[in-house]
This record gives sequence, structure tokens and C-alpha cells, in this order.
Amino acid sequence: MSNPKRYTITSALPYTNGPVHIGQLAGAYVPADIYVRYLRMRYGKDNVVYICGSDEHGAAITMKAIKEGVTPQEIVDKYHEIIKKSFADFGISFDIYHRTSSPLHHETASEFFSDLYKQGVFVEKETEQYYDVEQEQFLADRYIKGTCPNCENDSAYGDQCEKCGTSLDPTELINPKSTITGSTPELRKTKQLFLSLDTMQPWLEKWIVEGEGRPEKWKRNVMGACKSWLNMGLQPRSMTRDLKWGIPVPVDSYEGKVLYVWFDAPIGYISATKQWAEDNGKDWRPYWQDKEGTKLVHFLGKDNIVFHCITFPAILKTHGDYVIPTNVPANEFMNMEGDKMSTSRNWTVWLHEYLQEFPGKQDILRYVLTANLPETKDSEFTWKDFQQRNNSELAKGLGNFVNRVVVLTHKYYEGKVPAGNPGEMESQLMASVSKDLQRLTDHMEAYEFRMALTAMMDIMRSGDKYLAETEPWKLIKTDAERTATVMNTALQVVGHLSILMKAFLPFSADKLQQILGIEVSDWKLSAQSDLLPIGHQINDAEMLFSMMEDEHIAPQLAKLDAIRKDKAAIAAAAAAGATAVKEPVALKDEITYEDFAKLDIRVGTIVSASKVPKADKLLELEVDLGFEKRTVVSGIAEHFKAEDIIGQQVCVLANLAPRKLRGIVSNGMILMADNGDGLSFLSPATETGNGEVVS
Ligand code: MF3
Ligand code: ZN
Repeated sequence: MSNPKRYTITSALPYTNGPVHIGQLAGAYVPADIYVRYLRMRYGKDNVVYICGSDEHGAAITMKAIKEGVTPQEIVDKYHEIIKKSFADFGISFDIYHRTSSPLHHETASEFFSDLYKQGVFVEKETEQYYDVEQEQFLADRYIKGTCPNCENDSAYGDQCEKCGTSLDPTELINPKSTITGSTPELRKTKQLFLSLDTMQPWLEKWIVEGEGRPEKWKRNVMGACKSWLNMGLQPRSMTRDLKWGIPVPVDSYEGKVLYVWFDAPIGYISATKQWAEDNGKDWRPYWQDKEGTKLVHFLGKDNIVFHCITFPAILKTHGDYVIPTNVPANEFMNMEGDKMSTSRNWTVWLHEYLQEFPGKQDILRYVLTANLPETKDSEFTWKDFQQRNNSELAKGLGNFVNRVVVLTHKYYEGKVPAGNPGEMESQLMASVSKDLQRLTDHMEAYEFRMALTAMMDIMRSGDKYLAETEPWKLIKTDAERTATVMNTALQVVGHLSILMKAFLPFSADKLQQILGIEVSDWKLSAQSDLLPIGHQINDAEMLFSMMEDEHIAPQLAKLDAIRKDKAAIAAAAAAGATAVKEPVALKDEITYEDFAKLDIRVGTIVSASKVPKADKLLELEVDLGFEKRTVVSGIAEHFKAEDIIGQQVCVLANLAPRKLRGIVSNGMILMADNGDGLSFLSPATETGNGEVVS
């Protein structure tokens, strides 16, 4: 699809069980919003629809209702309003923010299910499912927790481990517990309708792995996640649940059951589009059914990859009438201040609170999140970085440059764009702006928004450098004509920035265009030397960004400190109490001797060690294996100081495929044992020559 006629863009529908936080913004909303703002400017507003809404079914909601002692309806009504308002105030430019509790959605999802049912794609199975006797309820999804069989995370949900992203069935959980009562559930018989993902596997493999019928490359992290599920082999998945809250299963003898939330939620994209079309006198169908002309792109965080790359496409494909996604540019996670974000521990920044505490400063957060998007790997938000980026990149960088140009234009030309006589230097500058515009555009098309932002800032920096070199404030005393050329050129650069900023910093972009007295929002692929025509009157200067002082972020840091202290107090109390009995780690599946014989483990000695810059956990080691020295990057920096382990004998898995970690190629793995509160090296009990085989 080289030239799609229209774009259907979605951001994951947030569960309406709490407000939205910056981790979600960085995963699914900020990048999508940048992309749609760009698409609208480049391809026209009418060819783009940006869809979102509240995901109001599922255990996430009912669990919260149980916790707060209110009805699920009260929960979704409350948080739908908070979420919707905070997105709007933050400038996320959805064409519609719908909700899955709406009648239109119920109808749409129900009809979709019936269509599939009539096609005979569901398989009825009577299964044994966990049942909470105290609560008198079957337990699926988030109603049940246990240890993930894949990564040993001990709080994996019944449908998914959020740590490793694996999709699960409750019966796969090790040591399952009801999340409602905490009790160990018992197995009872019940029947459900299953979607045979296993029979879809060949098609999914062709489409995802071989790229057949898939016009765009998918991101590495997304491909990696998909391949690992496909490698495990897809299993039939139940699309119905024994629950009361949700969309009733539209099939006789299934009374009292509802659709699985991950069946109905993605269909929420379709029902939202219907509502938007109805509200705007449009037809929703081409946005979902014109397979040749529509580019469908889903934005989301990594915990949603399986549902958007495997389950939902399988559902759409099976139905037959629908477009399948062109791309799913999912992001990894954003951490905060050295720790994973955690909504239960309040270790995050809530959007509605940010908007209250930093009024009018949406663009700073947008900028900092964009600069730190977890596009290829997990990233981190810190308040120090927030302050520094604001001060050096926005206030002193972009803001100062723009302000200087506007102020000088008023000072020398009463705010009228002077006529210029561009020379070599000017054509070089404009050529470099053109190059950066092209680069920026390419990054946008490739969903590389961090790089796109850098390209925009590079345009600003080129303009700034040009001013620093030409020094119009000195030149004005000796060469009025040349000064006019410089100012005209600098104004053109500012004009271009005001357009590009609309994608990233929409509030400041509007302010800047007001200052410049222009309303331009068609995307530029190359620099235009008369974007601001000669004689055009600009308005008074106004600061776009101001400095962020320590005192502005101090309350935020204090909040986090309080949470840290709480956590430490809880840990201390736990340590003082009965020593917890450690759960034994479950054994992995049996392997054959041949499997074991593939491992080449050797004795080696660490000959040098150093911390990997900006990585808290990693040490870069050089290990002498006798026949050669190896670089190994090891995640042990929290347990050992580099200087303490030089000379340590170790066992190294020596034939592990090389892996790049923080730009360093790691060649092998050091074997370690977990001793309860730390790690210890495995080494031969007696001095052994480097390179000796361990077997
Ligand atoms: N509510 C889910 C979450 O917050 C995302 C749903 S995305 C959709 O993880 F596809 F179902 F809409
Ligand atoms: Zn896991």
C-alpha cells in the first residue's frame, strides 16, 4: 500500500479502573497523537481518523468496584470522565473518545460475535475452570493470579503475564490464588466458546513472520514478541466468560455468560468509528472495510501486543470483511526514577494531577515523554531530566531562538518581515533545513518519533548557529542590507518550526503562529524561502517556555521520597516478622541429554570489570577463557563492585549467541546462583585452568 487513501489510527482503549498516567501516555497516546497530527498536516484532515475510548468491561473494572465497594457502573462513569477530560486537556487529538459500555458498542460487538458464530468458527468446550467457593464465582483473567510459567513472575494474571507479555490460561499458572478472596480456588466444570487460534497459526505465520500481505516492516520488539508466541504454538482461546459484567453472549444456552473483554474491547475501535461517522455525517465502512485503501495502525504498550498482532487480526481475518492492521508500532515500558512504574504504589505521574500542578505546561511533558519514548527498549522518566530538558532544550534552546528573532524583528523593522538578498550562507542553511525536513518526515513514516523530534530540534539548532555566526545585533551597525537578509532568513526558519511544532508541541505551536501572525499547517517536505512574505507584520513577542526551578519539582520529589520510605518501612516490618517461607521455584520442563550437551560451559577468570555507563545493573567484564579473552556484559552491578571481582574464577556459558547490551556485544553468560538476598558466582571448588570444560 504505497499510497493509502485514508488512515485509521487507534490508541489502546484504557481500562476505566483509574486515571491515566505517564507510562500509558508514553506507550500509546503521545506517539499516536504526534503521528496523527503529522498525517493530518501532510495528507489532509479528512483522510485521517483517530479513534480511542474507554475499555469498560473486564475484571480490571469489577475488581476495582469490589475494592471501592461500589458498582462497576459507578467505577466506569467516574473514571471515564476523568480520563476523557485529562486527555482533552493534554491535547490528545482523538476524533472521538468513545466508551465500550455504550449501547452502540454492545450492539456492534454482539453482532460481530454472532457473525462469527454463524460461520461456525467457535468450538464449544467443556472445561475445568478455577472457581472461588467463597465468592461463588468462576475465576478468569485478573480474578486469578499466580506464578508465570514462562518468566516466574509471581503476580501473573490468569490471561496474561504483564512482565513478560505471555498470554496465559489460568490453568497454566503455578500456585493460583483468587484475587478477590485470596483463597486457593478449586476446579469446576463449565462450557465456553473457543476461537481456534491454532488453526489460524499458518496464516498468522505467513503474515507476520514471512510478511505476506503485510506492506510495512514491523518493529523488532513487536516481531520478537510475536515470534515467541508463535514458537510456543497458539492454543484455542476462550472468547466467553462466566461473569455478570460485560456484553451478554448472543447465543442460546449461554445465558448468564459474557464476551471475553479482549474480544469486545478491540471491536471498540470499530464501534467508536461508527459513532464518529454518525456524529459527522460520514460512512464508517471504508475506514474498516476498504482493504486496498485504508491503512490501519494500532498504537499500544508492549503488554497489548499479543492481542493486537495475533488475536484481533485473527478475528478480523476470520470475519472476512475487515481491514487488518498495516502496523502495530508498540512501545516498551517507561520506568520512573530508577523503578518500575506502579499504579498501586503510586509510583508514577498521574496525568490529571500533572495538569493541575503544572497548569499550561502540557508541552513540556509532551516534549520530555517524546524525547524518552520507549521505542526500542524500556526508558526512564525522571524529574531532573524533565527540568533539565525544559531548561536547556526548550527554554534556552527553542524558546530563546524564536524569541530573539521576534524581538529583533520588532527592534529593527517594527515587526515587518524585511526583504533579503540571500547568499551562499543562506542557501546552505535552507538546504540543511530541507534535509532535516526530509529526515523528520522519514522518521514520522517509520514511527520513530524520538528521532523525528531530534530532527526538528536540529532545525532550531541550525537557525541558532546561523544567528550566532552572523550576529545581526552587531551587523546592524555596519551593514543594514545584510542584516535584513539574516533576519528574513531566520524568520523563515522560525516559520517552519511553527509548523513542525504542531506535531510535537501543539500548544506552543499555536502560540508561535499567533505571534508570527500566520496560520499554516500544511506539512513541508522542503524549506520554503517565502513562508513569511516580505512586509508581513508579526505580533508582539511572548515567551514560549520559562525556566523550571528546583522549587518547581521539589514537591514531586518529596512525594516520591514519601513513597520510598513507606516501601522501606513495609520491608522492614516484613523482615522483623516471621521469616517468610520462600516459595520453591517450579521446575522447568524436562529436557534430553542432547539438549544439555548443546551447552558449552567453560571455566574462566574475570580479568577486568567496569560499570556500563547509565545502566544501573550492568557490568562489562573481560573473561579469560584460556584460549581467548571474551567480553561479557552481566547484570550483576547491583550485587558486586567492579573492583571486587577481578580475579574471580567463574563458569561461562561460552556458546551463547552474542547479544548487544547498551551497545556492547556480550559474548557469553556468567553462571550465578541466587542465594536469597543476592547472587554468588559458580566456580570450581579447586583452582582450575581457564578454558576447562564443565560437564
Ligand atoms: N484496556 C486494555 C489495557 O489497558 C487495552 C485495550 S486495547 C483494545 O491494557 F484493543 F482492547 F481496545
Ligand atoms: Zn511472565
